[in-house]
Amino acid sequence: MTEAWSPDDEETSRRGATGPVKVHVPAKINLHLGVGPLRADGFHELNTVYQAISIHDELTARRGDTLTLTMEGEGTGELALDGTNLVIRAARALAAYAGVPAYARLHLRKHIPLAAGLAGGSADAAAALVACDALWGTGLTRDELATVAAGLGSDVPFLVYGGTALGTGRGETVSPVLVRPTTWHWVVAIADGGLSTPRVYGELDRLRDVGAAPLPVGSPDRLLGALRQRDPAVLATALGNDMEAAAISLWPALADVLTTGRAAGALAGMVSGSGPTCVFLAENGPEAERIAGELTAAGVCRLARTAHGPVAGARVA
Ligand code: C5P
Repeated sequence: MTEAWSPDDEETSRRGATGPVKVHVPAKINLHLGVGPLRADGFHELNTVYQAISIHDELTARRGDTLTLTMEGEGTGELALDGTNLVIRAARALAAYAGVPAYARLHLRKHIPLAAGLAGGSADAAAALVACDALWGTGLTRDELATVAAGLGSDVPFLVYGGTALGTGRGETVSPVLVRPTTWHWVVAIADGGLSTPRVYGELDRLRDVGAAPLPVGSPDRLLGALRQRDPAVLATALGNDMEAAAISLWPALADVLTTGRAAGALAGMVSGSGPTCVFLAENGPEAERIAGELTAAGVCRLARTAHGPVAGARVA
């Protein structure tokens, strides 16, 4: 923890940015999402492999006399901008941790859709931590930011780091996957609407209780081995998501999205996190463009776009 802020401390009051701080933060997908049993604290034990992909939100932080949030883009008018918003909660959590006042004017430009299984809200929280750390000159390390992030949501620490990483616990314990750099090409099929994450977890528990859930995907070892081979055809055989059956059970049309993407030539397709976004692995960038075009033409999703991964986590632009 850093020392408490004091307005009389010249050194401290000179710290930080005087101009706006702009932070880019990516969406995430889960290449492997193994969901264990429901824990006593209401969370499920996870073993997951996250990857940050090139769909970004942008958060700008400016000096202010209070803490405010404005936004544009995806979810404008739907998302509360008060103290319940994860961005405001993140700014307050950082201020409390670092012992500084939580004063900032924050503006969010949102491209990551809401309740999509892409961790958009968590991404914005990670962006707020990085932006306010730079604005206030609190100078926390990534690991310290990830510690604050863990109190905000299970996916937030990963979005502080980005890249490709193993997540355990409820997803908040993150360790990087060390592989030679490889760019993977994805098609992201965004649905017309969202799915509540707790609802999808609840549906998975229900399917398991009645014996209707597929066998669990188990350990991520096969996926980690496939990443090391750096061959999309190999990675395609190792992707897996325990949440997929539950998301399809709640949103049966997702099965058509997956069939359409696979028929269009994707090497593999799966539901992203708790859905309803579906992601497809493509052989290369031009293939990804072609598959996105076919998904759009088929009218099975609101929007199909290409993305690549891994990319960095929340970063000052
Ligand atoms: O951590 P986060 O706030 O993103 O989680 C949202 C909800 O998703 C939790 O309240 C819980 O219902 C569910 N969840 C879970 N197990 C996890 C992560 C999230 O059941 N590992």
